[in-house]
Amino acid sequence: MYRTKVAGIGYYVPEKVVTNHDLAKVMDTTDEWVQERTGIVERRYGKKHKETTTSMAARAAEVAIERAGIAKEDVDFIIFATLSPDYYFPGCGVLLQRELGITNKEAGALDIRNQCSGFVYGLSVADQFIRTGMYRNILLVGAEMHSMGLDFSTRGRNVTVIFGDGAGAMVLQPTEEEGKGVLATCLHSDGTYAEKLAFINPGAHGGYHDKYQEEMPDYGYSDAEYGEMFINQHMVETGQIFPHMEGQFVFKMAVQKFPEVILETLAKAGLKKEDIDMLIPHQANLRISQFVQRRMGLRDDQIWNNIQKFGNTTAASVPIALCEAVEAGAVKEGDVVCLAAFGSGFTWAGAVIRW
Ligand code: COA
Repeated sequence: MYRTKVAGIGYYVPEKVVTNHDLAKVMDTTDEWVQERTGIVERRYGKKHKETTTSMAARAAEVAIERAGIAKEDVDFIIFATLSPDYYFPGCGVLLQRELGITNKEAGALDIRNQCSGFVYGLSVADQFIRTGMYRNILLVGAEMHSMGLDFSTRGRNVTVIFGDGAGAMVLQPTEEEGKGVLATCLHSDGTYAEKLAFINPGAHGGYHDKYQEEMPDYGYSDAEYGEMFINQHMVETGQIFPHMEGQFVFKMAVQKFPEVILETLAKAGLKKEDIDMLIPHQANLRISQFVQRRMGLRDDQIWNNIQKFGNTTAASVPIALCEAVEAGAVKEGDVVCLAAFGSGFTWAGAVIRW
């Protein structure tokens, strides 16, 4: 059986830099508050009307494809992880195929909706396809254009200050090289707390899940026709078309699940925490990453953090951070690289790669 190797990796972040001071001009927040709680100093926002989740993904994918030394036409499967798709449907996978000009009609495209763990989930899916010999050049991307769907009033400040835009991509191929490539992946989920970090509207729920929410929101359904239950004026006026997050609850779950899944994935690969050369955690919050670093006993040069300049880019954060680490020479041939992510769902996942 083959193993899966990373043949090429790339990332793209938009040019526009938005600092905490910029956000403080439109909502009641401060640079000090955001840096102290999250470590974030600035983030990037895509260019309105000019960039989308798909277009940013295409820029990252072009780099990954070039570094893999293949032609776009060689891509036989696309996996696209995002929570901020261009359209409600179809998903970004086919839009990326079109954007890249991949006319190979044999290629398949799959969209993954696993929020912050979406890229690591996607890597595991790709790994299964490659191990069995089904595909030879899988393009895996994680991309987000959060800035288009955030609440820039003070009401949304706890969420809005955290997120940024960007994209990361990998080309994955089979290898028979001894010991190289993806050694193990672990995937987990627990839907009990689905609403603790969620973007509920627009949606077809019709208030069905209200029993799972401590404070039941008023979606304004009383006079609504069926068609208006997906999205209506009331939701828009009351800001119920934005993400919702119970920050402290999410924080507590994250600091528990990150170490758990890292140790589990290492064990599955026959390794221990002492074997980690580089940990690439999903960039949720610098305080979470620092906690995980201490728990794993890692030096500063064994963990990659870039949330300070890019914020939390959800599905894009792991590949952007990994690509930066590789470009900086911090990940070398033969290194044990551990990827770990946790996010909305809740879903969490780990992967161990011998580079
Ligand atoms: N600027 C200033 N004040 C803010 C603020 C902001 N951007 N956001 C929230 N506040 C206020 C709150 O309104 C609250 O005020 P109050 O005490 O007067 O009610 C106070 O700060 C504390 O709010 P709280 O939500 O308890 O803050 P916190 O210390 O938990 O920090 C997060 C908030 C979001 C930074 C933190 O909970 C966190 O990072 N959680 C994990 C989030 C995460 O990782 N999400 C992604 C998962 S993949």
